[in-house]
Amino acid sequence: MFKKVPVVTALATAALLGAVGNASAQDQVVNLYSARHYQTDEALYSNFTKATGIKVNRVDADDAGILARLKAEGAASPADVILLVDAARLGKGDADGLFKPIKSAELEAAIPAHLRASASAEGTTWFGFSTRARIVVYDKMKVKKADVDSYEELADPKNKGLLCTRSGAHPYNLSLFSGVTEHLGEAKTEQWLKGLVANMARAPKGGDTDQIKAVASGECGIALTNSYYLARIMRSNAPEDKLVADRVGVVFPNQDSWGTHVNIAGAAVAKNAKNPANAVKFMEYLAGADAQNYFANGNNEWPAVPSVKFRNPALQAMTGGSFKSDTIPVSAIGNNQLKVQQMLDRVGYK
Ligand SMILES: [Fe+2]
Repeated sequence: MFKKVPVVTALATAALLGAVGNASAQDQVVNLYSARHYQTDEALYSNFTKATGIKVNRVDADDAGILARLKAEGAASPADVILLVDAARLGKGDADGLFKPIKSAELEAAIPAHLRASASAEGTTWFGFSTRARIVVYDKMKVKKADVDSYEELADPKNKGLLCTRSGAHPYNLSLFSGVTEHLGEAKTEQWLKGLVANMARAPKGGDTDQIKAVASGECGIALTNSYYLARIMRSNAPEDKLVADRVGVVFPNQDSWGTHVNIAGAAVAKNAKNPANAVKFMEYLAGADAQNYFANGNNEWPAVPSVKFRNPALQAMTGGSFKSDTIPVSAIGNNQLKVQQMLDRVGYK
């Protein structure tokens, strides 16, 4: 739902406009449909308003909910900018014709080609603004790092009874499994997923943070998580988080092969945007140094813009400075999602 704005009567509006003497400033808004679920994002939006005078209205839902809502609303949709947290869902929205291609020299210069949709004659539909890695955490008291330093090994019988993940059908896992399919092929990936199910310590439940905490409590030995959830715990001053951070080890998998799976948070202009110019302005703001720094320091993601200098002690500590990320373009991680969903059903990955 949109945040409630004060109702202004026609008379009051006229008085206000008379006082301000600027009718257009009154009208400057951008309507976001956002799947970014990070409380610290408030600063991101308020800084945009401070810099441009454009008011941000926001609707929060998950990726699938936003795409469904856009479809249902059709031409009447008030959405201007769509913020999603998964490349495959951005690809899906694109394929369903929900986005308006845009031409922005600023965005094309700032965002590397492998972190955005491929351009057509009309322009580019979506851009990634930050990246996150899907990493492994493990219980340092019972698991050796060398036994969990590749995605393949998580399915090895040596790790039986140890693995915890959120639902296999969550976009973060679907995209990881889809990426693995690009490398291993379908038959081997299905065998791998079967091995993951066989190694589970418990049926999938909860979010990524719950998996990390379950490793720290000893219920699980190994878990998959997005990097920012671990970084958030590492930077927390709460004593219970410090205990978690001390107990778990972290691995960026597949450093000796294809690299760690990386996903993006990204944005697109809505097909039926009523404020398309403001939408592009907002996207360009996201590629600017301030917003990019916010992604790194506020939500522990990696800036998509390579030239941005940032310092985040947790990201530094968990990577030792840098890591090898998967070489497939992020637009390809949606390729196998339907097949992966069917595999999950066949192997009983809930
Ligand atoms: Fe998340």
